[in-house]
Amino acid sequence: MIKKTLFFETDIKKDGLLKIEKAYNKMLEEMNTGVTGYYDLPINQENVIEDIYDFIATNEYLEHNLIKDLVVIGIGGSSLGTRAIDTLLKFSHNRNIINIHFLENLDPLYLINSIKNIDLSKAFIVIISKSGTTIETISIAKYIFSLLKDPLKGLDINQKIAIITDKDSPLDKLSNERGWKVFHIPKNVGGRFSVLSPVGLFPLAVLGYDIEELLKGANIMREEFLHHGPNLLMFKKAYFYYKNANEKNINILFSYSSMFEAFNKWYIQLWGESLGKKTKSKKRVGLTPIGLIGSIDQHSFLQLIIEGPKDKTVTFLKLKNFELPVTVPHISLPYLETTDFANGRRFQTIINTQCDATIESVIEADVPVDLIEINELNESSVGYLIYYFELLTSAVGAMFNINVYNQPGVESGKQKLKIKLSK
Ligand code: PA5
Repeated sequence: MIKKTLFFETDIKKDGLLKIEKAYNKMLEEMNTGVTGYYDLPINQENVIEDIYDFIATNEYLEHNLIKDLVVIGIGGSSLGTRAIDTLLKFSHNRNIINIHFLENLDPLYLINSIKNIDLSKAFIVIISKSGTTIETISIAKYIFSLLKDPLKGLDINQKIAIITDKDSPLDKLSNERGWKVFHIPKNVGGRFSVLSPVGLFPLAVLGYDIEELLKGANIMREEFLHHGPNLLMFKKAYFYYKNANEKNINILFSYSSMFEAFNKWYIQLWGESLGKKTKSKKRVGLTPIGLIGSIDQHSFLQLIIEGPKDKTVTFLKLKNFELPVTVPHISLPYLETTDFANGRRFQTIINTQCDATIESVIEADVPVDLIEINELNESSVGYLIYYFELLTSAVGAMFNINVYNQPGVESGKQKLKIKLSK
C-alpha cells in the first residue's frame, strides 16, 4: 500500500543503534503509561465510533441529509487534520455532497466572506476546542450564535450543533447546561495528535467517510511499529534527522499532488510545534518544516534546494494512481512543437515522471532524499500516513529527549493578548 525508500546512507554504528533502541523504548513507555493517548486511538475507540454513528443516525438533520453546510469552528490541531483528510479524499465516492467551512481565523475579511457562502438555515455547526477557551474559536462561535439568533427564530439550533472538547472544560460545562451533544477528546491526546479522535472522526463521519477504515489504516502502521520495533525504516530516518540536526535543520515535504496542500500544513504544525523545544538543560532544539507541492514548487523553491545552502532534507510524497485517465491531447501547435513529446501522455504519468526527475536531480545535488509512495488515496492509506508522521515525530522527539506533546512557547503570547485587551 505504502512504500518507503531512503536514498541516503543507512549504515548506523553501534551508538546510533543504541539511540534508536532507547527512542523505541521511550515511545513504548509513552504508549503503555498513557503519557500520550494518540498511540492507541486506532484500537480503543469502538464506543466512540458507536456514539458518533448513533448520533448521526438519530439526529433529524444529519440522518436525512438535510444539511448543506458543515461549519467547523476550531484552530490548529482542532482543524488542520480534518481539513487535510477531507482535501485528500474529497473526490472519493463516499463523500456526501456537503460544503465544509473551516472558520479558524479572526481576520474579519476572511471570516465575513466565508460566512457569506454558508446557508445558516441548512448548516450544522461543530465547535472544536480541547481547552474550550481558545480565543479565536470562542469569538467566532459567539459571532455565529449572534447571526443565528434573529433571522432564524424558532430554528432548532440545539439539534444542529455538536461540541468536541475535553471533559470538564469550560466549553463542556456550557454544552451540558445547554443540552448540546458533546464528544470528549481523551485528556492525554494533544491537539496536533488528535485527528484520529472525535476531533477528526466526527466531522469526517458527517461528510460520509468510512472512519473505521481510517482507523484500520492507522492500525496497520501501529502494528508495523510494534512488530518491527527499532528495525523499522522510520527509525533510521528519525536518527538521520537527529544526528544531522545542526547541519540539516530544514525538512521539506515535497508532495506531488495539489490534494496534499492541507496535509502539508498539518505536517508543518505537527513537526514545528512538537519538535521546537528547550531540553531539560535549556538547550534549544528544533527542525524547520516546509511543505511544497509538485510540480508547482519546482518553479519556485527547487532552485534553492539544488543550489542553495545544504541545510535541507527532502521527503518526496508520490501518489501512484490518481484514478483519472486524463491525457494531453494530440495537438501540435505551430512554434510549440518542442512540447509535443508530452502529447498522448497521461497527466498522471507526467507529474510522476516530474517527481522522479526531481528526485534524481536533488540526489545529484547531494541533498538527503527519501520517498514515500502511496498506491491510491483512500481512508486506509490516509490513516496510515497520518499515523506514520505522528510516530516519526515522536521518534525524533524521543531522540532529542524533549517533551513532544506540550507547547509552552505559545502560551506567553496568549497571556500578553489578554492583558492588552483587558486594559
Ligand atoms: O496542537 C495543539 O495543541 C494546538 O495547536 C491546539 O490544537 C490549538 O492551539 C487549538 O487549541 P484548542 O483545541 O484548545 O482550541
